[in-house]
Amino acid sequence: MAQDAGILSAAYRRYQADRDARRERLERRTAEVYRRLPRLERIEGELRSTAARLVLAAFESEGDPEQTLRELERSNLELQAERAELLVGAGYPYDYLDDGPVCPTCQDTGYLRDGSPCQCLLAYCAREQNRRLSKLLDLGSQSFDTFSFDWYSSVPWEGYGISPLENMEAIREICGNYAHTFGPRSGNLLFTGAPGLGKTFLSACIAREVSDHGFSVVYDTASHVFQQFEREKFGRESAYEEDPDREINRCLGCDLLIMDDLGTELLTAFVQSAFYRIVNERLLARRKTVLSTNLPLEELGRRYGEAVLSRLSGEYQLLRFFGDDIRLLKRDL
Ligand SMILES: Nc1ncnc2c1ncn2[C@@H]1O[C@H](COP(=O)(O)OP(=O)(O)OP(=O)(O)O)[C@@H](O)[C@H]1O
Ligand SMILES: [Mg+2]
Ligand SMILES: [Zn+2]
Repeated sequence: MAQDAGILSAAYRRYQADRDARRERLERRTAEVYRRLPRLERIEGELRSTAARLVLAAFESEGDPEQTLRELERSNLELQAERAELLVGAGYPYDYLDDGPVCPTCQDTGYLRDGSPCQCLLAYCAREQNRRLSKLLDLGSQSFDTFSFDWYSSVPWEGYGISPLENMEAIREICGNYAHTFGPRSGNLLFTGAPGLGKTFLSACIAREVSDHGFSVVYDTASHVFQQFEREKFGRESAYEEDPDREINRCLGCDLLIMDDLGTELLTAFVQSAFYRIVNERLLARRKTVLSTNLPLEELGRRYGEAVLSRLSGEYQLLRFFGDDIRLLKRDL
């Protein structure tokens, strides 16, 4: 799974800040406790020297190393017990001064030996990404749990043979499974249908859940994505260099790109070629994309060309939304 470099570095800054804060807190605690219980500081010193002697004893050739080891271990345990007793006696938790790493896997470095980020740092990445996503999305109230079927009629919809309700039950199921099982083998989705039917709602649900699973997710409206492309194209001489912080590379490189409101942007030759590039490059790299639009498939073909249409028809699962506009239903309540 690809980690977005901008998110990773922001997450790592928070990670370090938390780690530093923990260290500082521990230093403050230690100073305070030593002032109140000076015996504890001496115990700490003795524990350190036993630890050093334990190491040496293992290499000892004279005398009985086994016995020395046992004695050292015993005095170690006694010192630890005394320390805990002193702490608890003074009203502190017994582990008040323990400075073990929060993450035993990476010793709080955030990285594994092979240089890849540790689970504990990835959790920071997921939070960072959600923070960014929630600036755009109503992640607070739009989730699979709050998705309601009450807005969809159970009367068959003309021209479709089934009711909006039946249709949405199937779509909700597909989207839920898509989000739960998102991974390298997932496909791409194309939401199409009239306004106010839950396309943005459901794509927000997918964004949130896939992001929670630790994948990199970029969510944006199509117009904004194209604006970024345009800005970067004219902003620098070599438009597509490999700077991971650049918006355009985030769109092309993330595990899941969700582009909302496709078709509402002003159509230009630049937009056409940028969209072809997004669709094509992401397919080649097996990266997943969810598109939503008010336009029917044929119209997308006319707008973005046959090459795009052929890729969308062949590689995207088409989900057709139909029914009464929920915005209007809510307004007329
Ligand atoms: N299943 C649902 N349960 C509750 N509220 C919903 C549901 N689906 C949509 N809504 C609400 O209805 C309004 C319109 O939904 P949404 O924005 O998802 O529509 P859309 O299909 O993306 O429309 P457009 O094509 O205009 O972008 C929003 O306020 C949304 O929160
Ligand atoms: Mg929408
Ligand atoms: Zn870790």
